[in-house]
Amino acid sequence: MKRKILVTGGAGFIGSHVVDALVARGDEAHVLDDLSKGQLANLALPVPLYVLDMAGAPLARLFEAGFDAVVHCAAQTNVMRSLADPALDRRINIDGLRNVLGAAALAGVRRFVFISSGGAIYGETRGAADERTPPRPENPYGRHKLEGERIVAEAPIAGASLRLSNVYGPRQRSDAEGGVASIFAERMAAGLPLRIFGDGEQQRDFVHVADVVSAILLALDDGGMRGVWNVGTGAATSVNELAALMIEGFGEHAIIERLPARGEIRRSCIDVTKLRATGRWAPEHRLADGVRELARIAVRAYAT
Ligand SMILES: NC(=O)c1ccc[n+]([C@@H]2O[C@H](COP(=O)([O-])OP(=O)(O)OC[C@H]3O[C@@H](n4cnc5c(N)ncnc54)[C@H](O)[C@@H]3O)[C@@H](O)[C@H]2O)c1
Repeated sequence: MKRKILVTGGAGFIGSHVVDALVARGDEAHVLDDLSKGQLANLALPVPLYVLDMAGAPLARLFEAGFDAVVHCAAQTNVMRSLADPALDRRINIDGLRNVLGAAALAGVRRFVFISSGGAIYGETRGAADERTPPRPENPYGRHKLEGERIVAEAPIAGASLRLSNVYGPRQRSDAEGGVASIFAERMAAGLPLRIFGDGEQQRDFVHVADVVSAILLALDDGGMRGVWNVGTGAATSVNELAALMIEGFGEHAIIERLPARGEIRRSCIDVTKLRATGRWAPEHRLADGVRELARIAVRAYAT
């Protein structure tokens, strides 16, 4: 049955891929985005777009459209910005969430999928963190994501929170935090050196945006999925390894520029056993293939 879904942050990186997937399977996707980071160009398909600040605007009228479900991707996503201005992070990531969730509950929306962050909530991980690992958010962004999960759990709508690892893929902005794959691809295409901070042995769990989207669709469709769910690969890749894959993906040489360490997390990796155990999801995209795809896109974009 065709469903009407509101995607907040739908003009952003992950949200726009959710929109594409919903439309591709015949659902009706609507987008709420203030375009502070999102871009019209990300909306490849003509979908209803409400350009609003979700933290400030009254949303009751918008919800008269009669949505079946909400995928809440909109957020202030920059950790450094959350440290510099925690009140702003709270306004967008907590007040904004409450505003959307409150309007959704009043309008009788039946399902709410909240996009949370594994990296920000678990902090430094030994091995891979599963959903029972005690949260250790180290900054306002992470603390607000954790608070957001609790707000969703207590709301009168069936909700699930997805803790994503480091997402990469087409449309990720190279000025986005954690967008190291996009940054490398852009710099390679421009013939610039790849910059690596510290020894390059810091590890991340890189998950392709298409695998994230399939987890979001699963959470959207399965009202029984409540609470928190990790979405990643369970495998950690160092920045040095990523750079090597990128160089291989371009089939060219590159200069590596070593810069002083930035005091970042050494290892961030999440365990996805719980989501895999549903039998309906597994990460399918290999990092080497995803990197080659980014290389092709970056070369095309640089040529135009
Ligand atoms: N990219 C990752 O690696 C990653 C990892 C973990 C979690 N997440 C989470 O996934 C979600 C999507 O992130 P993304 O990487 O696509 O970032 P993004 O910046 O591309 O998308 C966020 C979108 O929210 C919009 N937005 C921001 N403030 C708004 C407001 N007040 N009102 C309406 N719209 C607003 C922006 O314009 C943007 O389009 C976020 O909740 C983020 O915290 C992302």
